[in-house]
This record gives sequence, C-alpha cells and structure tokens, in this order.
Amino acid sequence: MRKKYVVGNWKMFKTSETALNYFSDLQNKLRDSTTVLPDIGICSPAVFLQELSPLKRSVHLYAQNVHWEPEGAFTGEISTQMLLGCNITGSLVAHSERRQYFNETNLSAGKKLNALLSQNLQAIYCVGESLQERESGEFNNIIETQLKDAFIQCSQEVKNHIQTSAKEHNSTQISVHPQPLSIAYEPVWAIGTGKAATVKDAHDVHQFIRKVLSEIFDHETANSIRILYGGSVKASNAVEYLSDDKIDGALIGGASLNPDDFFKICCLTNL
Ligand code: PGA
Repeated sequence: MRKKYVVGNWKMFKTSETALNYFSDLQNKLRDSTTVLPDIGICSPAVFLQELSPLKRSVHLYAQNVHWEPEGAFTGEISTQMLLGCNITGSLVAHSERRQYFNETNLSAGKKLNALLSQNLQAIYCVGESLQERESGEFNNIIETQLKDAFIQCSQEVKNHIQTSAKEHNSTQISVHPQPLSIAYEPVWAIGTGKAATVKDAHDVHQFIRKVLSEIFDHETANSIRILYGGSVKASNAVEYLSDDKIDGALIGGASLNPDDFFKICCLTNL
C-alpha cells in the first residue's frame, strides 16, 4: 500500500512572516483534524527553511532545488550538507520551471538525485512533457529519457538504498515513511495554466512511469515508489486525481499558497 502524498510547492512566493504563519497554521489544523490524513509536505524557498524547520511536526519540509557538490565555489547554490544542517527532509529535483528557465538537464538532475539520496535525504524528481511533445505523441519517450538518463547518474549504492527501502516498505504492508524517492509527473502545459491533464491521461502516464521504474530498478521497488500528479490541481478537482489507483498524490503550486485551500485538499484524500 502506497500512502497518498500531498505536497505544496510555494515556488518564489511568500515572505518570512507569511511563511511562518502559514506553516504553524497548517500544522495546527492538521493536529486538530479528525480525518485520516495523507503524508504532507511543503517545498519552501530556501531562505525560509532554517526558520521553518524547528516548527516542523507532521509536515515534511523540502527545498525546491539543491546542488550536487557537497561544497564549493558555486555562488547562489545550496548543498545537501546545508539541508542536513537545517534538518530538512529533502528537495524537489528538476521542476519544469528549473528545466525551462535555469538550464536543468537530465544529467544535472541525475547528479542532484545522487547527492540527495546518498545523504539519506529524500528526492521528488519531476518529469513531464511540453505541449508540443504531448501533441506529437512523443511524450512517453521524453518521460522515459528523463527517468533513465537521470538514474544512470546514480551510484549502485544509491540504487541499493532505494531497493532496500522498497523491500522494507513492502514487507511491513504499511507506509514506512520516508521512502527516499518520489516521482512527480507534471505535464508542462498543465502547470499554472488552469488546464489540468485528464485523470485518464495522468493515469496512463503514471502506469507508464511505473513500468520504466521497474526496468531501472525492479518490479518490487517500482511498486513502492509514489508517483504524484502535478499541474493545476485544486480543491475542486483534487478528488478525481487522488481517488485514482495509479495516482499516489499531488504536487500543488498555486492552490497550495493559501493554507485553507491546501488543508482542504489534504482532507480530500480520506477516501
Ligand atoms: P500548479 O503548479 O499547481 O500551480 O499548476 C504545480 C507545480 O508547479 O508544481
């Protein structure tokens, strides 16, 4: 059983004050809730992580990006060591906005996955096709390449770590949290556009991603990895995605900016 995972991505929004208020408010709501909740995470701008971390109770806290080197002359970057020092859960890797505006490639994404996973941090690896790639019918090939070219950068040790965690997860029959790796399928044309993929389209791509993961790792490991859908998920459509058996959760941008809206989506997973 893969427990559902709902993750908010604040992108480059919020101030120190609004971030702190939101984070406390959300966790109070979750504490007082009587519904069965999914696992929940927030991806915050790096500058707030240190302030938010001590407030962390049930919510996992992620960076939105990380460098692959442990330290060095890389102005503007943050390292896995810095995340560990702040007691952060992990990081998003290769969000499509990083691919689109900051030259993120499958190669750099793979190095980041390797850096995070070898330090026992979690990674949410984002994949997804552009509108042109969707319309040309090439999207499965694009996604397969995004997965295979990235994981080829990961050491055998990292692959063993993912496989061992999967075995533990499957043998206990409950969600052993944290699983080191999640995948987020985010079609670029659905992000921030209000034009979400149909549940059927997301379902089919998730099934395909799991097949590719079983080729990269093995069947058992692939079955334990959560695959989240992202792209214009909001309170009014979240149930459709979250009730699909191939969709293990959601990565939510715009609708995660308000704690009431985000909390509402978290409660919808009690299906
Ligand atoms: P959106 O963003 O929910 O605003 O479409 C999703 C994301 O970028 O992760």
